[in-house]
Amino acid sequence: MLGELIINGGRRINGEITIQGAKNAALPILAAAVMTDEECVIKNCPALRDVDKTVLVLKDLGCGVRREGSTLMINGQDMFDCKICESLMREMRSSIIFLGAILTRCKKASVSMPGGCPIGLRPIDLHLKALKKLGAQISEEHGYIKCSAPKLCGCDIYLDFPSVGATENILLASVCAEGTTVVSNAAREPEIVDLANFLNAMGAKITGAGGSVIRIDGVKRLHGAEYSVMSDRIAAATYLAAGAVTGGELTVRKANKNHMNAMLDALCDMGAELSYDGDAIHLKPIKRLKSIHTLRTMPYPGFPTDIQSPFMAAASLAKGTSVFVENIFENRFRHVDELVRMGADIKVSGRCAVVRGVKRLSGARVRARELRGGAALVIAGLAAEGQTIVENTEYIDRGYENMEKHLAACGADIRRNN
Ligand code: EPZ
Repeated sequence: MLGELIINGGRRINGEITIQGAKNAALPILAAAVMTDEECVIKNCPALRDVDKTVLVLKDLGCGVRREGSTLMINGQDMFDCKICESLMREMRSSIIFLGAILTRCKKASVSMPGGCPIGLRPIDLHLKALKKLGAQISEEHGYIKCSAPKLCGCDIYLDFPSVGATENILLASVCAEGTTVVSNAAREPEIVDLANFLNAMGAKITGAGGSVIRIDGVKRLHGAEYSVMSDRIAAATYLAAGAVTGGELTVRKANKNHMNAMLDALCDMGAELSYDGDAIHLKPIKRLKSIHTLRTMPYPGFPTDIQSPFMAAASLAKGTSVFVENIFENRFRHVDELVRMGADIKVSGRCAVVRGVKRLSGARVRARELRGGAALVIAGLAAEGQTIVENTEYIDRGYENMEKHLAACGADIRRNN
């Protein structure tokens, strides 16, 4: 049987939660470690299924990997392969960011086509177009993408869309290229900055990360480095949404509010009262959230697509009607049917979801169909009357470390049943 979370709702989320390291920073940083034959020490690495899967890829490539608590030690000295097999790629399509790293280390790479996922087709055309510009010969046959690049040459690359993954693959493939690469319309997410900081700690020469134009001056080689992964801004906002919708008083620690402006702004628009003290964000108890006129998901620094469903769960109990527009992924409303089963009043038309706040949700058996939608169902269950059973916790475990433990420590009646 797949894992289930059993939640008896109606209890306030009161207390403190220390936020995990960022999944979407850790994954590309772990991939980058294959680019040196020296040891890399990655601290604040969250204990997540997606990190475990990335470790499997590293080991499959021949790297040594040890974990001590939240620190991972990776040694690429004995790396003997440059291929990521189909089963590993199917397990986690975001392993595509190994492509640039393996190319830099081995001058060739072969990865199984990543395919889509529940939230969308997830094309990689921007990745491949950029790698070709850097000098990679790429063929797609028998379900594999085969790349060879005896020499990677720096060049000017313009991204049609500020793709996070494509920006990461360009950084990974250009750090040791001959000459300079300038990426325009690059993704500006904080996770890109974290990856660039780690690469620079390895001896790379990257400037401008976090802006739309990033410059990479190729260097001869990279060396090992020690680095601590940034805080997970999506996890922090998810827990704040759980606190707000249950009328709780919650402090999230080790959060970086500077990465969270759009999300914190939206929460305040919905009536949440927040205060800040260093890396702590404090939420005061409120009776009921207000609706928010329109929330549009956008590339950073806009409102993140990853927090759309958790905030929709909160908005489903707010006073008034909120409109969510999902501009990033084509199928990211899969949580809506499940929320409606709990009594939410949500109508979807194309990329828009109209959420008419209701006074109460009733607990039900619901099914997570992807990571963030699963988190949304937990939030709804915490606030609903009666018992909610969220199925397929494997999705939630991909991105949230010990979610039920954190929530139970703050007063939630939640347990895992698997
Ligand atoms: C990263 O995915 C994150 N994943 C996603 O988080 C996040 O939602 C997304 O960035 C946007 O912020 C990781 O970092 C592991 P994109 P990524 O390339 O890199 C289109 C989560 O829940 N596109 O910025 O795949 C694509 O179809 C996950 O933690 C192309 O058309 O996102 C989408 O519409 C979900 N061609 C848009 O760009 C390409 O070659 C954004 O994709 C690449 C992307």
